Amino acid sequence: MLLSMTTAMAAHGSVTKAAFGKTPNGTEVDIYTLKSDTVEARIMTYGARIVSIKTADKNGKIADVVLGYDSLDGYLADKKTYFGAVVGRYGNRIAHGEFKLDGKTYHLPKNNGENSLHGGTVGFDQLVWKAREVPEGIELTLVSKDGDQGYPGTVTAHVRYTLHHNALRIDYNVTTDKDTVVNLTNHSYFNLGGIGSGTILDEEMMIAADKYTPTDSGLIPTGELAAVDGTPMDFRKPTVIGKHIHDDFQALKLAGGYDHNWVLRGSTGEVKTAAHVHDLATGRTLTVTTTEPGVQFYAGVSLDGTFKSPGGWPYAKNTALCLETQHFPDSPNHPSFPTTELKPGEARHSMTTFTFSVQK
Ligand code: GLA
Repeated sequence: MLLSMTTAMAAHGSVTKAAFGKTPNGTEVDIYTLKSDTVEARIMTYGARIVSIKTADKNGKIADVVLGYDSLDGYLADKKTYFGAVVGRYGNRIAHGEFKLDGKTYHLPKNNGENSLHGGTVGFDQLVWKAREVPEGIELTLVSKDGDQGYPGTVTAHVRYTLHHNALRIDYNVTTDKDTVVNLTNHSYFNLGGIGSGTILDEEMMIAADKYTPTDSGLIPTGELAAVDGTPMDFRKPTVIGKHIHDDFQALKLAGGYDHNWVLRGSTGEVKTAAHVHDLATGRTLTVTTTEPGVQFYAGVSLDGTFKSPGGWPYAKNTALCLETQHFPDSPNHPSFPTTELKPGEARHSMTTFTFSVQK
């Protein structure tokens, strides 16, 4: 009996909880450790953030492959990077902090030049979520009131992180009591070489997309879906990230490198491969699958070394990459994009997985 219980626990991994400090207003923050046979992921209730993900390389050496801090204070002091956070209500940008819904214009905080970014000045990344344990993981819940950051409707978001061997799965479930727009994603910064190893420019990446959404200088989509063919945006075959990042190409110049939305093949709601990253030096790979129609590949272009790792390594330009599975930026202002509207009585479900392996 005892033996079979132990075996079952080993197969299903474990979840443990610890205190991780308090926010300035005294709210307690907890951190959960999810362990499987191959991966250890820590997730905290502040911003529903992934704090660390430890996996082995081809020689069995364990390293943390996401940027983060070892204390809550680190996260409280950094309002720029969104390390590991669930961003919302609207991941990425809404032009001029404005959109129209049911004939009414809504105004959002302009926290990125003229535009609204990642849900506004105090987005979901800065709020403390409620957590409960579920089989193989945790579920985090946030209630965002009608009018929060200018958005209509009280929105209830449930985000589940579960660990299945080498796959960390994220399930998003969102409901509202009034018509609104929603676009949640996870903003983890991956460096498969491990924190402290160098930039991601030598890593090889594939994005399963034939098109991307070109933008204006404020990184707002023009509405066009442009072919990647023959451009530095072409990652249909595994390509070293640094190979074309400095090419004389309008989209790269506007963003200072890669910070764009790719249009994934397949339909919204269908589980499909979004991207695959391979760190040639350590052999670590990451595969991203999702039900979302797009992915923002952000090459850490605004990291500038101000913030540092627990070991003192500066988080400098290109030291990590984000693969933010999402609906397209500024969708509320582009009727031709897959809709981000959510109505009462509907439940928006989306799913993303991060799977870690070793390829020699
Ligand atoms: C997203 C945006 C970037 C930047 C980062 C966070 O990827 O597209 O422009 O804001 O988040 O710094």
